[in-house]
Amino acid sequence: MVKIAPSILAADYLQLQKCLDAVKDADMLHLDIMDGHFVRACKKGTLLPCEVHLMIEDPLNLLDLFIDAGSDIITLHVESTAHIYKGIQMLKEADVGVGIALNPGTPLTLLEPFIEEIDLLLIMTVNPGFGGQIFIESMLGKISKARAMITSVGKEIALAVDGGVKEENALQIIDAGADVLIAGSAIFYGETADGWESFAKLIRG
Ligand code: DX5
Ligand code: ZN
Repeated sequence: MVKIAPSILAADYLQLQKCLDAVKDADMLHLDIMDGHFVRACKKGTLLPCEVHLMIEDPLNLLDLFIDAGSDIITLHVESTAHIYKGIQMLKEADVGVGIALNPGTPLTLLEPFIEEIDLLLIMTVNPGFGGQIFIESMLGKISKARAMITSVGKEIALAVDGGVKEENALQIIDAGADVLIAGSAIFYGETADGWESFAKLIRG
């Protein structure tokens, strides 16, 4: 079953509760960070599990803040985490799901030492930083390879794709092996989440 994780980076923060209510039937909420108070506000306004994508330097310095703010899964970038294994241990000790993110230019081989320890692998399909960018087509091959890697490990690891996910390419991304679609601008626009209904219909039928 493919999961949909609306990325609230694209939401209207002045209408945050309305945005959260509009996507209450999603599977998970994707939070691009920023700061810990924002996580706490979302956690209070939704029943969805919150996956927190840390796109900050030295995330381990602030990890406790995000753990305490109520994150269900925390996703660390291998590129910005000097001691990734330490981060994995901290999350496990706190009973928070372990997510690992790779930028488009980062090879999957970097996962080899610790792939068995993770719960979610996030493949960035745009350069991180902001929403509304175009999906990098060549990432489809990387998604397929990531799926094969997960299958060979034999552990249940969610394969999430983040960046440029739209109705036009969602099915192709699922075919390549993704089982979590993170979508910001495809879902949040107009009044609050005007894209939600048709996006969910396409994925869920
Ligand atoms: C980009 C963020 C994404 C962003 C995706 O750096 O990690 O989560 O919200 O936005 P869209 O879906 O608009 O590409
Ligand atoms: Zn993200």
